[in-house]
Amino acid sequence: MIGTGYVGLVSGACFADLGNSVWCVDKDKNKIDNLNNGIIPIYEPGLEEIVNKNFKSGRLKFTSNLEEAVKASQIIFICVGTPTSKNGSADLSYVYNASKEISKSIKTFKIVVNKSTVPVTTGDKVEKIISKKAKKRNFEVISNPEFLREGEAIRDFRFPDRIVVGTNNKKILKKIESLYEPLIKKGATFFSTSRRGAEIIKYAANAFLATKISFINEIGNLCEKANVDVEDVSLGIGLDKRIGSRFLRVGPSYGGSCFPKDTKAIVNTGYNFKTNLSIIKAVIKSNDYRMDMLSKKAKSILNNKIKNKKITFLGVTFKANTDDMRGSTSLKMIPNLIKKGAIIRYYDPTGIKKEFSKTKNVLFCDTISSACADSDLVIIHTEWDEFKSIDFKRIFKKKKFKIFDMRNLYSPKDMKKLKISYYSIGR
Ligand code: UDX
Repeated sequence: MIGTGYVGLVSGACFADLGNSVWCVDKDKNKIDNLNNGIIPIYEPGLEEIVNKNFKSGRLKFTSNLEEAVKASQIIFICVGTPTSKNGSADLSYVYNASKEISKSIKTFKIVVNKSTVPVTTGDKVEKIISKKAKKRNFEVISNPEFLREGEAIRDFRFPDRIVVGTNNKKILKKIESLYEPLIKKGATFFSTSRRGAEIIKYAANAFLATKISFINEIGNLCEKANVDVEDVSLGIGLDKRIGSRFLRVGPSYGGSCFPKDTKAIVNTGYNFKTNLSIIKAVIKSNDYRMDMLSKKAKSILNNKIKNKKITFLGVTFKANTDDMRGSTSLKMIPNLIKKGAIIRYYDPTGIKKEFSKTKNVLFCDTISSACADSDLVIIHTEWDEFKSIDFKRIFKKKKFKIFDMRNLYSPKDMKKLKISYYSIGR
């Protein structure tokens, strides 16, 4: 596995857990030293146990020596980042660098699998790069996109809906199928297509899911005005099997390391192929607008008087069960509210965030109660389990407080009974 980020580390550890011998490679020596000492660089439920277990058994190894790892392996997975570059396209420099490095160490036959999220035709370019140093008969480049969700990555690896592999080489396909055999036996569908097909599947899947979320978020805006509960609408439409009930939860803007980046990148790929992906463009716009819209809603809940008001964020990560801040709505909302004179406190189960450490009037609290006690408005930003049954009446010192639940964790009826001033999304 080249790259020990979310995808490389989780996949590497899980492949080792299936009985394979796995090398995880990273340029970052510090990270590798930490991993060799049992220190996991990310928060992902269940990962530490799997890493430690397989490290101890010798099936999982960490190194910064790419050459040593490539020589010892039959299958090489490229799992490096593809961040957004200035024009919105995917920055492929890490993928190309990794390909160059790999090419230098190919002496016997290797399958090079691209797991990084890359625009269509990247596989062709990777093949070209590798063929500069390695003999064509000594390698085959294929695509095998990753669909892991942060916070659920181990489960998603072990029980995937489908495994997508892009190659026209039948012999290679059989080898990859046998690598995934234990998961296929448990019910995962193994789907093969062309290399370019697999590359598009990854972006199309993420863009579609982002569209589904933005769609329900906008329907939620309508429900709110029409005094209808969007949760009923989600259930009502989700029961239609053609639509399906998942990814129809209203909330803040979608965030994370993938949806914001991948929607932009596929629009850019569209430009390169002279194709107008107008729906995805509209989704990006709708999602960006939502961050400002929610800041405005928070202000209006406080009757637009927010100077010196104490506002508490419960959770700041982009979703629950992760420490990841990338693309989080809080990164936009908190500065928006600060600008208007609010004083922010936040509690997050994954601790203090460097993103806010230099922002004046933003304070981390290490318990829910200390974060909420004398707050004017509590914003439930992330859907952590520990926010689902808070005894608000007990933890608030103030008599008058308001709650803005951006994840619809509570029932408006129950809140009314408790005489709590409660606002949620789309109802
Ligand atoms: C996503 C894809 O699901 C995964 O397949 C891909 O490989 C990587 O990107 P991830 O970003 O980890 O995974 O999280 P996900 O659970 O998909 O959530 C993404 C965003 O959508 C979050 O901000 C989440 O809060 C939001 N979301 C999700 C909703 O607002 N409503 C939903 O119903 C589902």
